[in-house]
This record gives sequence, structure tokens and C-alpha cells, in this order.
Amino acid sequence: MSHIRGRLGKAADKLVAEYTASISFDWRLYCHDIIGSIAHARMLAKQGIISEEEAEIIIRGLESIGEEIEQGKFKFKPELEDIHMSIEARLIEKVGEVGGKLHTARSRNDQVALDLRLFAKEAISKTLTKLREFQQALVSLAEANKDVVMPGYTHLQPAQPVLLAHHLLAYFEMLQRDIDRFTDCLKRTDVMPLGSGALAGVTYNIDREFLARELGFSQISQNSMDAVSDRDFVVEYEAAASLCMMHLSRLAEEIILWSSAEFDFIELDEAYATGSSIMPQKKNPDVAELVRGKTGRVYGKLMALLVTMKGLPLAYNRDMQEDKEGFFNTVDTLLSTLEVFIDMVNTLRVRAENTGQAANRGYILATDLSDYLVKKGEAFRTAHDIVGRLVSYAMEKGKSFSRLSLDEYKKFSPRFEDDVYLVTVESSIAARDIVGGTAPRQVERALATAKKIVGDSIAEK
Ligand code: ARG
Repeated sequence: MSHIRGRLGKAADKLVAEYTASISFDWRLYCHDIIGSIAHARMLAKQGIISEEEAEIIIRGLESIGEEIEQGKFKFKPELEDIHMSIEARLIEKVGEVGGKLHTARSRNDQVALDLRLFAKEAISKTLTKLREFQQALVSLAEANKDVVMPGYTHLQPAQPVLLAHHLLAYFEMLQRDIDRFTDCLKRTDVMPLGSGALAGVTYNIDREFLARELGFSQISQNSMDAVSDRDFVVEYEAAASLCMMHLSRLAEEIILWSSAEFDFIELDEAYATGSSIMPQKKNPDVAELVRGKTGRVYGKLMALLVTMKGLPLAYNRDMQEDKEGFFNTVDTLLSTLEVFIDMVNTLRVRAENTGQAANRGYILATDLSDYLVKKGEAFRTAHDIVGRLVSYAMEKGKSFSRLSLDEYKKFSPRFEDDVYLVTVESSIAARDIVGGTAPRQVERALATAKKIVGDSIAEK
């Protein structure tokens, strides 16, 4: 049995040991655990709490354990409960009793908080990189299809024509907010908890600032009880991930619609679609469907952690061990989703003819005809009614607006003149020349800004 039995004489029941163990998943923290322990050993030596020689032995031992794990040579034993105990036990096995000095002025409670924060900081940085790559993919697709028009929808009914680039840049904005959220979450993750001990602080003269510098943290925690029981940063990551997945899921849904035979706006690269086992004509957008599908689990993990945390008294409680699987799964799901989605966007082809035709179908210029009448002096509400009746009439006759004669137009309002035929999809788009609008001039500007944002962030690295 492991050496943490303390006052407990009896060995833990096998089932209990299995039930309480976290090693099957927290082994993933081994790197962070070792890095944290090395910094801790250095600090203990610097403060004269252990000798330099002892620190050297401990550090070399930890490094070789890292290699053992990396090379798959390390034997994880369930009875050693978690990654912290596993590494410490192996250290003592390798270097002898001096290994037992590593845990001076530390508890697994501040140790696990540290490991998880190191892991989270890494996850945030990987997430931010992928989000920038996604923005880059959107910008490239928008740029390559700068003149492509399509119907804009409300209620999934054709509403007003827009540029495809404008539509795509809407997602750029969503991802920008995601980037802001993860960047903000990093501020509160970037806090070094060692020195909190089990809950009340430690009795040794340790140097917490030194630990923070060694481990790349910009701040140290200010309350030991909060520091060992705070998992806000995990909740925040999962909340930001949920919002981000919501955005990705919405784009996935559009990709699914657009690649259907009914829309036929885009063609997915074959690598991102699958065939059916019985229907040879099918090309299913499985990747996009799974982006949409996996969004559910990310929300689920967020809910699970919020519920786990809500009833916990200060300070550490074992319930908190439940934070990890959901967090790891969220990080893995978000990163792999971003990765595969970026490639899918980079390889899809736009069928500009079809989006253009769709934009010309129906009575999508009805708003523009109302605006036309308003500019000729009609009150907007009246203009709206007139065009409403005009649409009913045209539908009855089975005619598009452009095929109505001027006489027919004039039956609805004397304000209609020859120039009504100048109201086209192109003029409709060009007329929305306002910041945030779909006019080519505005979209060009938005694209330039987007390129600068993406370019600057790549230059920063
Ligand atoms: N495996 C534990 C966790 O993930 C580590 C901390 C254990 N601390 C304790 N007092 N049992 O939360």
C-alpha cells in the first residue's frame, strides 16, 4: 500500500482504491507535475530548506522519471492513486530517502492546483493559436470569393442579398470575441498557488515570487484557502469553449445546409465527407455534423463542473478531482474540432453561380423597392404596404420584379419610374454602404482590418 495511509492502519479496500484513484486520467499532468516539482526543489535549496546537493539529486531523479514516462517505460500503479503520488513514490524508489524531502512545504492540494493551472495555460495558448488560424482561413475564403453574392436569410427565408465575404466575416467577429474571452481567462489562470499548502499556508520560509518566476506566472495567489479550492479558471475555459463551440456549430450547420442538393452553394472536399453504405449517390457532411454534435458534450462538461463545485465548503474537497476528465475532454474536443474545421474551410469550394442565382430568385429586392419609393417621397410604412401588394400580384402572375412592365408597377404607385429597373442585386448590396454593412467598399475595409488583426497576431509570435 502507498505511504499516504497516515493514521489509517487498514489498507484501503481494492474497490475503494479504484473508485478514488485518478491516475487513469491525471497521468496527463505528469509534465506539469515534474516542472512544478523541479521549481519547488530549486526554491527549497535556495531558501536553505534542503541542501543544494539534495536538490540536485531530486531534480535529476525527476528528469529521468519524465523520460521514463515519455518513453512509455513508467509503470502506473492504481494503488498509488494519482500522478503526484506516483511520481513521488518513483522518486523515492530511485534516489532513496532524500526523495522524501521534495514534499516539504507543499501539499497535494496546492500541487494539483499548480499542475492544473500549468495545463490550462498551455491549453489556452494552443486554443488561441488555433482560433487565429481559423480566422485566417475565413479571411482567405472571403478574399478568394470577394465578389460572390448570395441570399442573406432571416428565419431561413431569403431576406436581402449580401456578399458571401460579409457572411463569412460575421464568423470572424464571433471568433474574435472567443479570442478575447480566452485571453481574459488567461489572466485569472496565470496565478501561482504553491505556498498555500493543504489550506492554511506553510510554516517554512519559502519564496513564492521565485516560484512564480521559475514557472512563468505573473502573479501569486493571495489567499491560501481560495487558492486550493478555486477552479474558476477551469469553469471559465469550459464556458469560453462552450461559446466557441456554439459558433463553430452554427457555421457547421450552415455548411451542412449549403452542401445539400437543395442549396448546392458549396462543395466539400471529399476528405471531409463520407459516402453512405447503401446509397451510392450520397456525400455526407459528417465532419460538420460532428462539430455540431460534439458541441453538446462541451456544454455537458461545463454543467457538470458547475454542479460539482456549487456545494463545496472551503477548502479542498475530493469532489474536485472530478474537474479533470471534463476539462481534458473539453480541451481535446475544442482543439481537434478547430483543427479539422480549419482544413475543411481551407478546402471547400464555393459555387458562385448557384449562390448568385439564389440571390436573384424570389422577391429578395422587396426591401429595396420600398426604399426606392421612400427616396421618391413615400412614407416608409406606406411603401412597405405598396410593395407587399406588388409581391402578391407578381407571384400571382408568376413574374419576377424585373419582368413586370412599368405600367404594372404604376398600378401600385405613380412614383415608380423607369429607374425602378436599376434596382438589382448588385445595387441593393452596394447601397448598404454603412459601417458594418454589406456594400463592397465596407466589406473591403472589414477584410483589410481582419487581415491586419490576423497578420499582427502572427507577427507577434
Ligand atoms: N487526485 C487529487 C485531485 O485530483 C489530488 C489532490 C488530492 N488531495 C487530497 N487531499 N486527497 O484532486
